[in-house]
Amino acid sequence: MKYRQLTPFPHDFLWGASTSAYQVEGAWNEDGKGPSVIDARNPYPEGTTDFTVASDHYHRYKEDIALFAEIGLKSYRFSIAWTRIIPDGSGEINQAGVDFYHQLIDEILRHGIVPIVTMYHFDLPQALQEQGGWYNRKTIDAFARYADVLFDEYGSRVKYWLTINEQNLMILQGVSLGTMDANMESQKKILYQQNHHMLVAQAKVMRALHDKVPEAKIGPAPNISLIYPASAKPEDIQAAFNYNAIRNWLYLDMAVHGKYNVMAWRYMQEKGYTPEILPGDMEILSNAKPDFIAFNYYTTQTVEASRGDGHDEVIRGGNKLLKSGEDGVHRGASNPYLPRTEFGIEMDPVGFRNTLREIYDRYHLPLLITENGLGAFDKLDENGQINDTYRINYLYLHIEQMQLAITDGIEIFGYTPWSALDLISTHQGCSKRYGLIYVDRDEFDLKQLKRIRKLSSYWYSDVIKYNTL
Ligand code: BG6
Repeated sequence: MKYRQLTPFPHDFLWGASTSAYQVEGAWNEDGKGPSVIDARNPYPEGTTDFTVASDHYHRYKEDIALFAEIGLKSYRFSIAWTRIIPDGSGEINQAGVDFYHQLIDEILRHGIVPIVTMYHFDLPQALQEQGGWYNRKTIDAFARYADVLFDEYGSRVKYWLTINEQNLMILQGVSLGTMDANMESQKKILYQQNHHMLVAQAKVMRALHDKVPEAKIGPAPNISLIYPASAKPEDIQAAFNYNAIRNWLYLDMAVHGKYNVMAWRYMQEKGYTPEILPGDMEILSNAKPDFIAFNYYTTQTVEASRGDGHDEVIRGGNKLLKSGEDGVHRGASNPYLPRTEFGIEMDPVGFRNTLREIYDRYHLPLLITENGLGAFDKLDENGQINDTYRINYLYLHIEQMQLAITDGIEIFGYTPWSALDLISTHQGCSKRYGLIYVDRDEFDLKQLKRIRKLSSYWYSDVIKYNTL
């Protein structure tokens, strides 16, 4: 539908930007922090830096927050490192870690920026991992206790909470994210048991926040990417329905309705992946409700019907770690209508609106976009500036579609693109840059880690200031 007039962004729209602790902070073993699965990752993808220094935000957060304020950000989405608060995940509380996030939140609020906190962004404490990680039900209790500490310490000052970042991708592509060993990839029965425990843990903490801090709001933060059929062939359409259920709705149906999605459940039954559900689990799941749905959006995916020939799995975007398709379930395909980023990821701004519409239609909850952005090899020009017009173009096209979705009648209250400043990618080092602010370092040369605002940050300042494109 073509509209004659667009609905404006709400006057209190949370324009912001996003980061995660391990990708930006550095100081991986300072002030009592324990190791996470990311720190214990071995080996790191070849030719890329580790996460020990990252963007050194731990030591430079004041300078960074001042720059966010200069850009005019209304919100800042960041994650808390579980291993700073409880170094081994379940034991003693580390006061220095607790204090660090008090200071960070103070600084954010002092600049009039709204903090949006992710409780867990890929960096499970290594000590818990060594006891079975999410496969061990004790991790549910450890997460619930960690959440209690966070809500007691920061609940009076943080209004927006996100439970688990991209739980669905940790299950579906944990190897590339560095959250699971390569040998786990094929052990899907174990993965879906982990998944079940994470869902129960999420429900517990949503409930706990509502009991402790009734005025605060909480939601899940999966990566939702609408699945398209490769053609109008009914079998392809059915494959898209199935993969939507497995990749997307399994996670949101559970978060919102406390029920397993029927198609996803049939898939798990058929494959022998159904998790063990203990008495009381379904009650915990159905007694928790999110206040909103947060989600990360980068692209859509396209599938066709499985041919069952052993070649349904394809490599996406030339990136050997990113696979699409599952033998006998659906076949990975590419979309000929979509341009690609330098890293081979299809760009689909219209798919962003399609995804917003589909999520809202299914759940009728307010939406927050917690990630969206362009990874590129930004280079300093002869004047020491970053002229990232390609990123402006990417953000423009997505914000334009977001406004069309608002005009469609969808309730969206914030947008925090990835990322506030350059940080370390999950598996492609620091040369793959997403930031509004450049951090001057290379993979193995830290230089001065100087901050330089990119052209896109000046453009974004205007969008925020005038609350429109
Ligand atoms: C999301 C993650 O998957 O995408 C981020 O939540 C990640 O942590 C971002 O950095 C971009 O992906 P990548 O692999 O390019 O770093």
